[in-house]
Amino acid sequence: MERTFIMVKPDGVQRGLVGEVITRFEKRGYKLIGLKFFTIPTVLAETHYGEHCDKPFFRGLVDFITSGPVAAMVWEGKNVVAAAREMLGATDPQKALPGTIRSAYGIDIGRNVAHGSDSEAGAQREIGLFFDETELKSYSRAIDSWIYE
Ligand code: RTP
Ligand code: MG
Repeated sequence: MERTFIMVKPDGVQRGLVGEVITRFEKRGYKLIGLKFFTIPTVLAETHYGEHCDKPFFRGLVDFITSGPVAAMVWEGKNVVAAAREMLGATDPQKALPGTIRSAYGIDIGRNVAHGSDSEAGAQREIGLFFDETELKSYSRAIDSWIYE
């Protein structure tokens, strides 16, 4: 089973959208295996968004993502990396398809509510940055046979 890193950003937390985001993943059938509510230290934010270090928006992005608490999560399920990106929608909420999280809850690109890993390799990297292995819980659910055939 694949794992991905999802994070409700400070804007999503302030706006009371942690539950909405969790509910979408839960209701689809994905399994929550890690959850952490904390304010990201600057060095971790810079590492997490390191691929953007040369972009003009980098400093503002790091300042914003460290400006308040986030809800960091690991979700597990079949094809969850790509599926989660589809559920989030395009980076710019104005371009996100109706029904996606960013379309439903966002307007500006710098306030797009939630983050999701963009590849399997990226997911593994980000999960390792935010969680120790002991913080990820393996468990079975009785409902799984009603989700997977
Ligand atoms: P994320 O990493 O946060 O899930 O977003 P993403 O993959 O959809 O987009 P990415 O290209 O990785 O950009 C990371 C975050 O930087 C902000 N951004 N601002 N002003 C701009 O042109 C711009 N471009 C990106 C967004 O908040 C984006 O989520
Ligand atoms: Mg990204």
